[in-house]
Amino acid sequence: MGASSCAVTRVTGPIGCTAVWLKRKVRPDRRSTEMHAANILLRSSARWLAVVLPLGVLIRSAFVWLYTPGPFYWGDLIHAHSHTAYFGWAGLGLMGLILHLLPRFTGRPVAESRPLTWLLRLAPWAVGGALVTFAWWGYAGPSIGFAALNEVLWVLFAVVFWREVRGRPLRDWPAPLVLMGAAVLLLLLSISGTTLVIISEAVLDGAFPLLYQAGVYLFLELYADGWVEIGLMGVVLALAEREAAGGQADEGPAARRVATAALLLVGPAALRMLIPRGLEGPLVWLSIAAGALFGLAQLYFLAIARRLRLPAAAGPWWRLAALSLALKAALEFMPVLPAWSALALDRNPVIAYLHLKLLLLASSGLLGALAAVRGAAEPWSFRLYAAGSVVMVAALAAHGLLARAIPAVNWPLYAVAFAAAFPAAAGGIWGAQPWR
Ligand code: HEM
Repeated sequence: MGASSCAVTRVTGPIGCTAVWLKRKVRPDRRSTEMHAANILLRSSARWLAVVLPLGVLIRSAFVWLYTPGPFYWGDLIHAHSHTAYFGWAGLGLMGLILHLLPRFTGRPVAESRPLTWLLRLAPWAVGGALVTFAWWGYAGPSIGFAALNEVLWVLFAVVFWREVRGRPLRDWPAPLVLMGAAVLLLLLSISGTTLVIISEAVLDGAFPLLYQAGVYLFLELYADGWVEIGLMGVVLALAEREAAGGQADEGPAARRVATAALLLVGPAALRMLIPRGLEGPLVWLSIAAGALFGLAQLYFLAIARRLRLPAAAGPWWRLAALSLALKAALEFMPVLPAWSALALDRNPVIAYLHLKLLLLASSGLLGALAAVRGAAEPWSFRLYAAGSVVMVAALAAHGLLARAIPAVNWPLYAVAFAAAFPAAAGGIWGAQPWR
């Protein structure tokens, strides 16, 4: 690990270099650029979470009481919730964490540069613009424009990342950096999905509905299973300490295997979601096999992570994330079952699966990492968040499995999911608060 200002603060306490810069209350100089940039991104990610979660609770209320949300459409508010969660909370949060950690591997602070300046300048507009335009118009010219602006941010981030690491030969990259690099590549690859959607709608006039769906799922999976999940794996390896083999174990080869698996498998695995929508031919088995192999890769990562000593502040959050990852990895094998197609067409199991992945796995992982670099969260924030999120996801999954056969459970399960959303949202917002 290279010497850096962050490495030094790591010894002095769990607050991390971000907070050290805050305490000094000085304009960032060249040496503190990474602290400044990481801090801006982490703070804004936490603020977007405080928008995303209450919006989720509001949307959940619509399943309990039928009413009209003022001048809005529910469908548009769902788009606003999911895009802000992806772009603002998860995306900016992971960028902030990577910038915070990079100096440990490069041995120097992140350099000031135009791409970094523009990234910081555009980020609030890109995410805020997407929130407002999706909420107001749904999928339309303005929201697609702001979504594209977010893609510009991703390219700028990839340029910043590349400039930092290009001096170090790939074969020397330590395990966390390998996973972070693969995550950045997957982020860039996710743009292929949105490009396919634009070609399908704007050029081919929606003539091939499966092409549109392929674009949507390529984006969703490459972003969430690729960028967010693999990036978080890198963050975990960077922040945790080795316990086994007297601290001598080298996760490098294992990290390379996981990164290669993700780069090769996440894209093809996304096509599984088209099977219930009419995908036929050899792609069916290719996508199912890719998903199952990616499930194995996730279990393999968990086996590596078991050898790590987690930072105390991140411990509870990451254990919840690890359990969720184990369940998600097991669910990657579901498409081999004939019943899967029917479940995948039902909205609630899909939403339960999405929130297992994005709330219980990705958000717990991010909240744990925030706690590790900025200081432990209140234990009650974790308890509220964990209990609420688990009950909400379980109620949605139960709804998907039971509501058709036993219609009487329909309303009670929606009411449970709604009630559980309150502690989940309160705990998440509280846990992400930087003010300590
Ligand atoms: C308290 C926490 C949350 C609540 C109550 C909540 C609630 C909801 C609701 C009610 C829906 C629409 C369900 C439907 O259409 O059947 C939804 C969709 C979604 N949410 Fe959340 N959510 C929460 C947290 C999150 C987080 C943290 C993320 C991402 C990091 C996220 C990402 C998504 C996505 C991607 C969708 C699917 C949108 C679509 O299919 O168009 N949610 N959420």
